[in-house]
Amino acid sequence: MSEELVVSRTEGAVGVITINRPKVLNALSNELMQVLSQALLAMQADSSVNVIVLTGTDKAFAAGADISAMKDWDYMDVYKSNYIGGDWETMKNVIRKPVIAAVSGYALGGGCELAMMCDTIYAAESARFGQPEIKLGTIPGLGGTQRLTRAVGKAKAMDLVLTGRMMDAKEAESAGLVARVLPVENFLEEVIKIAQGMAGMSQTTLMMAKECVNVALETTLEQGLLFERRVFHATFATKDQKEGMDAFVGKRAPAFNNM
Ligand code: HXC
Repeated sequence: MSEELVVSRTEGAVGVITINRPKVLNALSNELMQVLSQALLAMQADSSVNVIVLTGTDKAFAAGADISAMKDWDYMDVYKSNYIGGDWETMKNVIRKPVIAAVSGYALGGGCELAMMCDTIYAAESARFGQPEIKLGTIPGLGGTQRLTRAVGKAKAMDLVLTGRMMDAKEAESAGLVARVLPVENFLEEVIKIAQGMAGMSQTTLMMAKECVNVALETTLEQGLLFERRVFHATFATKDQKEGMDAFVGKRAPAFNNM
């Protein structure tokens, strides 16, 4: 694995992937995105990992795609390679375990879009989100006009995309982009604790729940409710549903086996 990406596992079945290119504020080069996808796939395949945390350094989650690398590309370069979203939409379907973005410092451009591809975002008080592509003579290309609009609504998405301004963690939380804002001190440790709480649930049921929430963004309410009800029914075929309910009735902690 590249030095630009640090991969570790904590107790409680949490995998942590840290983007580590601090000299360029974690600018996302093609090479970095490649190793990131390999790391995510490895964690999806690792049965000792239930929840994945994706993070950066204190100053930047990622300040966007690598502008120095990108500046001289022409249309055929980006079209032929399907830069960059094509492969990442496939990745989203392959990675079925919950992926949490832990954002400290800048999450700009492709960095904000990468965070939005995760299942939820926890932000340090220092976090700054934005889609500044307009200032570079381009537009967001990895979901910034689509996922941001679904998360914060049209008015604020237009404001961010057309001005290129940044919003702080509090604004991002009240707009619905961010699940929780946490103090800078011990930020990653606190996110890992939240992740460990999730990871203590049934892995199978976590994946089912994630799948249902994601369907809400893709389909009609009627279809989504039917999908949810069928998956809810399916949980009754798992041993973990028996274990969870037996444990509640027996006034003890559940011990899920991901079965
Ligand atoms: C390459 C970058 C970079 C980036 C920062 N750096 N962001 N290099 N690509 N996206 C480099 C700087 O050139 C500089 O290198 C070093 O990191 C530190 O950055 P500074 O600008 O000196 O830091 P600071 O003054 O603190 O300002 C921080 C900042 C600013 C506000 C985040 O760096 C900035 O505006 N960065 C660009 C943000 C951006 O436009 N992102 C969108 C990219 S386009 P040196 O060598 O000088 O020390 C995009 C499209 C996605 O993401 C589409 C996907 C398909």
